[in-house]
Amino acid sequence: PLILLLWAAVGYFLGSIPFGMVLAKLMGLGNLRDVGSGNIGATNVLRTGNKTAAALTLILDGGKGAAALILARLFAGEDAAHLAAFAAFLGHCFPIWLMFRGGKGVATFFGIIFALYWPLGLACAALWLTVAAIFRYSSLAALVASALSPLLLLALGRPEAIALCLMLTLLIYTRHVQNIKRLFFGTEFKIKG
Ligand code: G3P
Repeated sequence: PLILLLWAAVGYFLGSIPFGMVLAKLMGLGNLRDVGSGNIGATNVLRTGNKTAAALTLILDGGKGAAALILARLFAGEDAAHLAAFAAFLGHCFPIWLMFRGGKGVATFFGIIFALYWPLGLACAALWLTVAAIFRYSSLAALVASALSPLLLLALGRPEAIALCLMLTLLIYTRHVQNIKRLFFGTEFKIKG
């Protein structure tokens, strides 16, 4: 009904704020489209060399996903919360402000799963960190952590959020096609430092 539509809209507009782009502009880091992968996410902000900006992008892009879910949960219940979270994710990936050319959704995904069920967030963050530490690829870490998130949800005894989790994972994969190609050909950007 109308209330769900309203929360979907709130989620979308929250999610559509491109914090990486905004911070890069405000902090004089130039246009992210001309850096590394050209993406608007924290990983690409890190390639400008500014760790503070990258950390802020991660927190804010994650925070908007968490905020959408928590606000909707508080005011309208769990179904609205899942819808608002999904809409926030879509907002990040397809923001109206950037002609629908947005990010890849990884930070927003993490914000959502932490708010959804924090043990799932912790488990996926540990996976991300492990893969990133071993292989030094942010994309690979995200692909592994997101792929395992639905299974982890089942293992943690929370099957009710499986639909949301599966849809986010599928979308993350569709947003990483170029990364998957680069990983395959050995030309993916590594995390430095
Ligand atoms: O969070 C996005 C990450 O998985 C890949 O980003 O800039 O390396 O394409 P990027």
